[in-house]
Amino acid sequence: MYRTHNCGELRIENIGETVTLSGWVQKSRNKGFMVFTDLRDRYGVTQLLFTEEKTEEELLKLAGTLGREYVIKVTGTVTERSAKNSKMSTGDIEIEVTELVVLNESKTPPFKIEDETDGGDELRMKYRYLDIRRNPVQQNLIFRSNLAIETRKYLANQNFIEVETPVLIKSTPEGARDFVVPSRMNPGQFYALPQSPQTFKQILMVAGMDRYFQIVKCFRDEDLRADRQPEFTQIDCEMAFVTQEEILNTFEGLTKHLFKQTLGVELPDFPRMSYDEAMRRYGSDKPDVRFGMEFVELNDVAKGGDFPVFNSAELVVGINAEGQADAFSNKDIKKLTEWLQRPQVGAKGLVYVKCNADGTFKSSVGKFYDDATLQTWADKFGAKAGDMMLVLSGETDKVRKQLNELRLEMGRRMDLMKPDDFKPLWVVDFPLLEWDEDSNRFHAMHHPFTAPKKEDEEKMLNGDHETMKSLRADAYDMVINGSEIGGGSIRIHDRALQARNFKLLGFTDEEAEDQFGFLMGAFEYGAPPHGGLAFGFDRLCAVLKGQTSIRDFIAFPKNNQGRDMMIDAPSHIDDTQLKELNLDVTVEPTES
Ligand code: AMO
Repeated sequence: MYRTHNCGELRIENIGETVTLSGWVQKSRNKGFMVFTDLRDRYGVTQLLFTEEKTEEELLKLAGTLGREYVIKVTGTVTERSAKNSKMSTGDIEIEVTELVVLNESKTPPFKIEDETDGGDELRMKYRYLDIRRNPVQQNLIFRSNLAIETRKYLANQNFIEVETPVLIKSTPEGARDFVVPSRMNPGQFYALPQSPQTFKQILMVAGMDRYFQIVKCFRDEDLRADRQPEFTQIDCEMAFVTQEEILNTFEGLTKHLFKQTLGVELPDFPRMSYDEAMRRYGSDKPDVRFGMEFVELNDVAKGGDFPVFNSAELVVGINAEGQADAFSNKDIKKLTEWLQRPQVGAKGLVYVKCNADGTFKSSVGKFYDDATLQTWADKFGAKAGDMMLVLSGETDKVRKQLNELRLEMGRRMDLMKPDDFKPLWVVDFPLLEWDEDSNRFHAMHHPFTAPKKEDEEKMLNGDHETMKSLRADAYDMVINGSEIGGGSIRIHDRALQARNFKLLGFTDEEAEDQFGFLMGAFEYGAPPHGGLAFGFDRLCAVLKGQTSIRDFIAFPKNNQGRDMMIDAPSHIDDTQLKELNLDVTVEPTES
């Protein structure tokens, strides 16, 4: 037997018991006549004591040579420690070892297997099996497992059925590039890996499954960021015979359940905000509402003066950074302006107005606006002495996005984003279509299967080009602390409407038929009204734990170049394999 107990289990009540433990050597202190060793497994750490009195001579010698990460099995007696360690769950006891077996040796690990490690990201990913031995990573994976179990429990209770959908499919447009897989048996043809199981879950509704869910891998070939991986996991859900209201309630219920069960946090009902309002107040469709600093529009008080930049701008808009007037020197403001002018943000400049204690103002546009005018700005912001108003101007959509970046940056600097303060909301009423200047065509704001609002259906079928920009959808996102945790919509379930949508999105009839004929065909056999949503499961884990990087919640994540550092993928494949897959470009074309 390898163990009678695990390394996190023994307490003062076990004193006197003979026990056997197995695990990894965390560290060893060799004092010659006695050796202290910390033995670690998933459950905790237990101190082992090898002494001259209790341990045979050669075993004591062997204990003195135990290196970090050796795998050992020991048997001994649980005794009370003279120097107790209240930081360890097993800190009251130690094991006086009588038997020791080295199960496996270990090379010295390339980084410390401790909560605070000295290993850089790449090294930790290369030796992920060592990284996962570290407590924080292990806790994240355990947390993820609990979250999945609670999800299944909740949804099963609500009559959802988990159905697996295929991984080798045809492209589903969710806005990213597909990963493709060559088909050996169908030369020149490719499967695509699902960006989501969207069409399959809709087909399952046509098939009468009524309530579907799946905790499922999705694949998107897109630029990677802290909250994006090329393969990630969704809690994917779909319901038939539902309204948007029922969907929001169901998944708000799931989210509350998950917070309660895994963190003990009771979330209040989620407020709802329309897309338009979110853009106007926060310049983002995923506003972080843990703090205020809402946008204040200044067109009526800032335009018409002597400052040409504002006069020619479509929108003059700002935020009030409370109490920040003294915190920002001229140099700091210059740096902040440069930060805003980086191509990633793209602002042209930044105007500041500091509210002095004597009711006057210090401002970068002081020569264009007198104090009486600046007071009207301050009134709009509700700004008081010591505050600093930060104002941007430009085209409405662009300037809102830039100010969103500034607001978040100020929120970070002012420490307003507390990781354990959870502020969820639903953003609703998204536009159905988004006009893209570059490609000169409409894109689906959510995806092409999203239905317009009932009252917009007629407009969509018969309206002109401009009307299409005003169509609204029953589409919604769940946002928590500025992170888009999930999104979904009510779907089109009518062939004609779906065909019209494809047309608006620039598909020819043939292309639509070729790619989505199966779905439109299914709509002709009694498709029920349906809708759903998908949570980003990795993001949900990270947000619940107050973190921004999803990598820490994925057992084997990819790096920012999309590489798995441990197995070294992607990699070249050999010529025989290429030939079999009809991908061997060096092969002479065969005569036909
Ligand atoms: P959507 O594309 O909004 O919707 O995706 C749903 C959620 O998945 C998460 N997510 C990601 N997480 C990590 N890495 C990525 N690359 C990544 N991309 C998306 C986000 C997002 O909110 N089929 C629809 C859902 C529906 O309409 O029912 C869909 O996939 O948290």
